[in-house]
Amino acid sequence: MDTTHSYKMDEPIGETRLDHAVQNVLGKGVDRFEGPLKVSGRAPYAYENLPGEKVAFGYIVLSTIGAGKVKSIDTMRARSTAGVLTVIVDKRSPRAAADPNDPAPKPAAGEVTHYGQPLCLVVAESFEVARDAAKLVDVEYEKDEGRFDPIALQDESHVPPPGAMPSVTEKGDFQKAFSQAAVTLDATYTTPSQSHSAMEPHAAVAHWDGDKLKLYGCYQLVSTNVGQLAKALGISKSKVEIVAPYIGGGFGGKLGIGPESVFAAMAAQEIGRPVKIALTRQQVFQATSRRSDTIQRVRLGTTKDGVITAIGHETITSNTPGDEFFEPAGISTVFLYGGENRLIAHKKTDVNILLSSSMRAPGEAVGMLALENAMDEMAEKLGLDPIEFRKRNEPEVDPQDGLPFSSRKLVECMDEGARRFGWDKRNKQPCTRREGEWLVGIGMSSASRKNMIQQSSARVTLSPEGEALVETNMTDIGTGTYTILQQIAAEVLGLPLEKVSVRLGHSNDPDAPGSGGSWGANSSGSSVFVACEGIVEAIAKKLKVKPDEVTLKDGTAIAGNRQTSFADILAGEPIVVTGTFKPGKTSENTHQASYGAHFCEVAVNAYTGETRVRRLLTVAAAGRILNEKTARSQCYGGQIFGIGTALTEELVVDKRTGLMVNHDLAEYHVPVNADVPQLEVVLMEERDHAASPLAGKGIGELAICGVGAAVTNAIYNACGVRVRDYPMTLDKVL
Ligand code: MOS
Repeated sequence: MDTTHSYKMDEPIGETRLDHAVQNVLGKGVDRFEGPLKVSGRAPYAYENLPGEKVAFGYIVLSTIGAGKVKSIDTMRARSTAGVLTVIVDKRSPRAAADPNDPAPKPAAGEVTHYGQPLCLVVAESFEVARDAAKLVDVEYEKDEGRFDPIALQDESHVPPPGAMPSVTEKGDFQKAFSQAAVTLDATYTTPSQSHSAMEPHAAVAHWDGDKLKLYGCYQLVSTNVGQLAKALGISKSKVEIVAPYIGGGFGGKLGIGPESVFAAMAAQEIGRPVKIALTRQQVFQATSRRSDTIQRVRLGTTKDGVITAIGHETITSNTPGDEFFEPAGISTVFLYGGENRLIAHKKTDVNILLSSSMRAPGEAVGMLALENAMDEMAEKLGLDPIEFRKRNEPEVDPQDGLPFSSRKLVECMDEGARRFGWDKRNKQPCTRREGEWLVGIGMSSASRKNMIQQSSARVTLSPEGEALVETNMTDIGTGTYTILQQIAAEVLGLPLEKVSVRLGHSNDPDAPGSGGSWGANSSGSSVFVACEGIVEAIAKKLKVKPDEVTLKDGTAIAGNRQTSFADILAGEPIVVTGTFKPGKTSENTHQASYGAHFCEVAVNAYTGETRVRRLLTVAAAGRILNEKTARSQCYGGQIFGIGTALTEELVVDKRTGLMVNHDLAEYHVPVNADVPQLEVVLMEERDHAASPLAGKGIGELAICGVGAAVTNAIYNACGVRVRDYPMTLDKVL
């Protein structure tokens, strides 16, 4: 029996089967079932597919100028190298896009818009030969002057078309209110470009069967990635299948297809053999995408008592000419604190630096560094405790459009964190706690991340043997999606966890929104819930009872005083339901976001300026937690990201050439174990019945939001140094 079941969320859903759990597996910190496969090398990642087949290897040649034109590409020497099969120079693919929404625009043929732009592909019998021959490709350029310095060019910025959020959000009269405010702060913060650089470098294996392409890749949004790849190749979407069951991290760097998939597909077609390409780590840094640098001016105007009357957050970000994606740094400022007069605006500067795109918590991750730093600076001006100042500006409804919050536990998170961390022991005066050569301080910040649930579909099959299979083209980028979907299906269907299998990452399965924007588990989980509810209804119908009269447990249905096994109910025929979840009026009528608070203790060396993070606590409220362990792990990741953002992480661009100087993990500094103290994460009990049928909200990116400001606010408390230029490296602290 094959049916569809769909649910549009126009009303808060109230209690569901999940609130009367029978199997008691949802929410538990269940281990990721594919974990052992991954750590023992048995889970094939993109590059490892088609072992034993006669596969050819590609190596991408990148531009060695930052701006200008390619006059000629001479492939003669490369082609005559033994073992080289072909060299592909194709006008269609100077750069495949990282923007998931729009694979176009691409630079005009022959135009170089950034250093490291993919130019051509050498294909050979081995990776080594391809790489070697790539050095023999002779490219002649006509160099332009180039635009490599976003700070120097900031006055040439323009208002981009609205992206994930409007470029400008206004209310009241900001300028007037700010000029009349009793107390004001006007501070400009800068953050550098950052690299996603997930653990697994971008890789693809392309295989053609006639005119049909099968691409093993590592992308976050396979349901949209198939369309992008088809468009880049100029073929119909129905001819493209992407397979991406295992993905070694993404952070946004794999939201869109990369040059490796387009090139691999073109090469495989030309030579009539499968072709695999992996970017080197250096190429990941130079040829995929980055988080934009930002220049953020935050202005706060308050009454004498610390009530905000004017709040302004204006950001300038950068991107290549024609790419109008901008880092929406003010995204949280729109709703986090009250204030009658508001101005949140973004501008974009055209630069010849690698494409900028979404990176983990695009907007908030760097926007809240500025806002949460400014909140502390203002609290000090007002003589208020930083938590007290934030509480005085806690809005009752969304301060921009007056919508009620679906749920909001910001104040509870701050209070719980303060209690656990010992906030009351904080010295109000900076530089007053010293341990030998270390100055010690404590700081905090708020966290918030918009909840962006998406439409999603999943097919669930219940077999007469009492086993379930979940299929959706959702992805698991290391976040735990497989296990979370297993837990949801097991809970609703009344099956032990091991009776539920999950298949992800095959583009031909029902469309899911993929892993992005912290919507993954909640959206795809909602569609699994809807499909399973459809199965419950089908079972109830067979038993001639109402769905809410039946309880499913351990492979049986209990209704009244009867307990019947699924085998008997299904009588040899599986039940297959494709469930579709659609966000509805509850998304329009409420303002939905997850909230949290970070608390940090640092020690700053009085002689070297070195900062050591000693303790870091995050309290997070994100609706129902679907898997306590994977949710916590996401928060740990965000905390660690935040330590790097505050202290070390920075892409350095050579202002003469546009070269990303530190394009590897030796020179681009992310925290290592020695930089990360014992981390603590507290997940607050919450249900949000307007946010999703699961009553959950996104948590994947919540913890990165604001956490860097907790670190730098702690640095200020320790040593009295306030640096508005991130990262806060020791030279700036001294
Ligand atoms: Mo996230 S930057 O939406 O992968």
